Amino acid sequence: MSARLPSATVNGAPLGLEGVTSATNALDWLRSSGLTGAKEGCAEGECGACAVLVARPRATDAGDATEWIAINACLVPAASLDGQEIVTVEGLGSPDELHPVQSELALRGGSQCGYCTPGFVCSLAAEFYRADRTSPGCDPHALSGNLCRCTGYRPIQDAADALGMPSGDDPYARRRAAAAPTAVPTRLTSATGTYARAADLSDALALIAEHPEGVLVAGSTDWGVEVNLRAARSPFVIGIDRVDELRTLEEHDDCVVVGSALTLSEIEQRLGNRVPLLAELLPQFASRLIRNGATLGGNLATASPIGDAAPALLALEAEVTLASASGERSVPLSEFFTGYRQTVRRPGEIIRHVSIPLPLSPIAAFHKIAKRRFDDISSVAVACALDVRDGVISKARIGLGGVAATPIRALSTERRLEGQPWSESTVGEAARTLRDEGTPMGDHRASAAYRRAMLGTALLRLHADHGEPVSTDGVRV
Ligand SMILES: Cc1cc2nc3c(=O)[nH]c(=O)nc-3n(C[C@H](O)[C@H](O)[C@H](O)COP(=O)(O)OP(=O)(O)OC[C@H]3O[C@@H](n4cnc5c(N)ncnc54)[C@H](O)[C@@H]3O)c2cc1C
Ligand code: FES
Ligand code: FES
Repeated sequence: MSARLPSATVNGAPLGLEGVTSATNALDWLRSSGLTGAKEGCAEGECGACAVLVARPRATDAGDATEWIAINACLVPAASLDGQEIVTVEGLGSPDELHPVQSELALRGGSQCGYCTPGFVCSLAAEFYRADRTSPGCDPHALSGNLCRCTGYRPIQDAADALGMPSGDDPYARRRAAAAPTAVPTRLTSATGTYARAADLSDALALIAEHPEGVLVAGSTDWGVEVNLRAARSPFVIGIDRVDELRTLEEHDDCVVVGSALTLSEIEQRLGNRVPLLAELLPQFASRLIRNGATLGGNLATASPIGDAAPALLALEAEVTLASASGERSVPLSEFFTGYRQTVRRPGEIIRHVSIPLPLSPIAAFHKIAKRRFDDISSVAVACALDVRDGVISKARIGLGGVAATPIRALSTERRLEGQPWSESTVGEAARTLRDEGTPMGDHRASAAYRRAMLGTALLRLHADHGEPVSTDGVRV
């Protein structure tokens, strides 16, 4: 029997992955195959000109089995799309037969030079086909990862607001009823190295044990930037984005367990508001396009001092479970980061999941200070979770990002708050302590003084928002 040749279905027809290396991104593969609609604007996930649609299993059990998800083609390894279904702007419509999204953009003057337009069309098409969209119009987050230099956005927003609903015979709407493609056992070897998709967790653990020099890749929103802009290469890339054991979400009486390879969009959909701190954080994390790939495992593994998940998970007292070929261990997140971009993770270990203990503290907030509202990296992130009993702060947990070489807990401030009345004067005193936590640096995003000032305001804001006494069942009295 002949070996299966790696390929994907693009706009309904097979497209081979011959010639693709472990470092080739999906955008380069599509464009070199003649599908030049998707553009390269930045090659680092910032502009969305490269957006395409992929068919993915629906995140929740409700209704249709498949969702059309928009992703940044510039970031994902082309090899990771083996066996998958992709739609590019060419597959949506043509000049003679415009897709409804293209019609709206054209009608309302939403395209000038046109460079960004294919990306906007794909993001808008994902919104058009979003399974839980029940009325015309557009979620503002749908376009948060797309930039345009020409239109000033108003006409694009008009087109988005005018989006109707798919007709009954729309082939992409109908496609959602059938199952999404499953992950296939890809192994693609080239001069730059091998891309191997792990079949399951034990396969992933065996592969990383066998290739300790290899790199695990989930959403590739960090790794893809390293490959494109810093010429990072690995002799062995292990795709873990479709490993079922890393994609579970479990709710127990005493904890919520979130799989490391669920995308942030999937977590948003599946968790809803059950962990309010995460529900507040996730819409502020990058853009919809990035959240459709990015994972918690990738965010924690990079140990970025300005990563957004860590401050929230520190305030939630989360634990990280690491799996290896020789077993599993759990580490409190507060002990996970050991230095600048360093963690306790040993070679051969994979972050399996993150566990958030219950019950949650009723007073919680995530403050991200960044230059832009959407799609920006934090200058400072502050996450707070407080228990207040009979007007007294019985527990305070504060996670900080952007103020030290690693995400940290604001331990002095926590001590300063605990046992004190939940009052403006307590908060005012503690805010002065919080300003002095960490060792913020000045850089192109913010000066050290600005970062300190922002730390100082976070608690005042928390008190202003949640200052009234809260009864034991969490209801304002
Ligand atoms: C435009 C843009 C905007 C961004 N905005 C934000 C933002 O607002 N906030 C923020 O915090 N980050 C942001 N990021 C960074 C990035 O999106 C996140 O860090 C994301 O969570 C990484 O997840 P991933 O699955 O894509 O990681 P990948 O790129 O797949 O992997 C990153 C690293 O983690 C390792 N890794 C991945 N999964 C595991 C695992 N389960 N176990 C062990 N190691 C693992 C990989 O080996 C690799 O070294 C942004 C990135 C871009 C490109
Ligand atoms: S080229 Fe800019 S996001 Fe991909
Ligand atoms: S139309 Fe020119 S960049 Fe958007």
